[in-house]
Amino acid sequence: MPLAVVLILLVVGSILFHLLSPWYFTELASNWAMVDLTMDITFYVTGFVFVAVNLFLAYCVIKFRFKKDARATYEPENKKLEYWLTGLTAVGVAAMLTPGLLVWNEFVSVPDEAHVVEAVGQQWHWTYRYPGEDGKLGEVDAERISNENPFGIDPEDPRGQDDIIVYNPEVHVPLDRPVKFLLRSKDVLHNFTVAQFRVKMDLVPGMNTFMWLTPTRTGRFELLCEELCGIGHFAMRGAVVVDEQEDFDTWLAQQPTFAEQNAKPAGNATIGAAQYAVCAACHGSQGEGNPVMNAPKIAGQSDWYLKRQIMSYKNGLRGVHKDDTYGQQMIGMVASLPDEAAVDNVVVHIASLPDNESAATIDGDVENGAHIYAVCAYCHGGTGQGNQALNAPKLAGSSDWYTARQLDNFKTGVRGAHPKDYYGYQMGLLSITLRDEQAINDVIAYINTL
Ligand code: CUA
Repeated sequence: MPLAVVLILLVVGSILFHLLSPWYFTELASNWAMVDLTMDITFYVTGFVFVAVNLFLAYCVIKFRFKKDARATYEPENKKLEYWLTGLTAVGVAAMLTPGLLVWNEFVSVPDEAHVVEAVGQQWHWTYRYPGEDGKLGEVDAERISNENPFGIDPEDPRGQDDIIVYNPEVHVPLDRPVKFLLRSKDVLHNFTVAQFRVKMDLVPGMNTFMWLTPTRTGRFELLCEELCGIGHFAMRGAVVVDEQEDFDTWLAQQPTFAEQNAKPAGNATIGAAQYAVCAACHGSQGEGNPVMNAPKIAGQSDWYLKRQIMSYKNGLRGVHKDDTYGQQMIGMVASLPDEAAVDNVVVHIASLPDNESAATIDGDVENGAHIYAVCAYCHGGTGQGNQALNAPKLAGSSDWYTARQLDNFKTGVRGAHPKDYYGYQMGLLSITLRDEQAINDVIAYINTL
């Protein structure tokens, strides 16, 4: 008898949980209501079977419980019952499979008017490309991929010159227009998923895959990789922003084409040297850093990283947290660099400064630090040399007190909390692996040996 009660409670509890649980689909943001319907039908069919089987079991436990004088009957065949069970099962299975086939048929039939966006996945971030005015994407080749040409676009192909490049994990699409996402991967399997769109697709190295949808409401939707792709998989985030057509056009016009990207003039070191006078007040005339001024060493740091950080301060992605006192100071200082060209100039000057080792100020257990660093090495490199393709700055030879403070800022959300600071956010997620201050000191003691 207690067993029957447990079975009945299990059924009632499951139904209540389903009806009252706050965990259900997020609000739909695409044309794929059919996917929701398919899942609902599956839920109803499996739910009905679950309830029926368990209640029948409870009934049998009660009805056929042990009675002293009762004798079991033996009935190996019951044709009528078997016909019924086979028939009902067939109907149930067909009800679950048929909508799926109908949805799939639509999913693989892309509307002719769909516009194309290419999404490129790699460990562990997203980038995008739009066809330019000619409406065609240029040829790409994995062998051409480099830090200067991260998409591997063929520079000889005229169709590629006007391709619009978005080197950022956030992509925009216009409202109510079907979009076909062309998907490719540079390294391993990834998966392009926006929960509110309901459809998803794998990115397979060496292959072009696709999916399509029509966004039905504006907003910013988190993009997740849903294919286990290595240690940073959980931190491979991005966003699809659905805009009104007008806002989308404005945004797209601000993105550079492949030709514009290549034609960008290099920074001017002479002008940069003059502009650097402001920076020198804290960071030192040789960019050696000054702990008293809370200014880290910048000499020897990768130019692309320096540029991105200065631009992040300028664009309000960094130094905006109320507890980020030193970051707030930097916002005031970068105002002396009026535009991107000025930033390029000063970065070229910094690249010419001598990379002298900075004095170690932090003690820790080097051996334990080496163990912890194994995780950091995936992006920052085995010798802390940094890796532009992974957006990971150089760590070796930098001011150790500064690295310690930044790790603490990442852990506490003082840095990397801005929703558009994707790489900072990623580092925030990964800094959780450093459990306490001792772990931070140990890993920095190890980095000091690199
Ligand atoms: Cu990319 Cu998981």
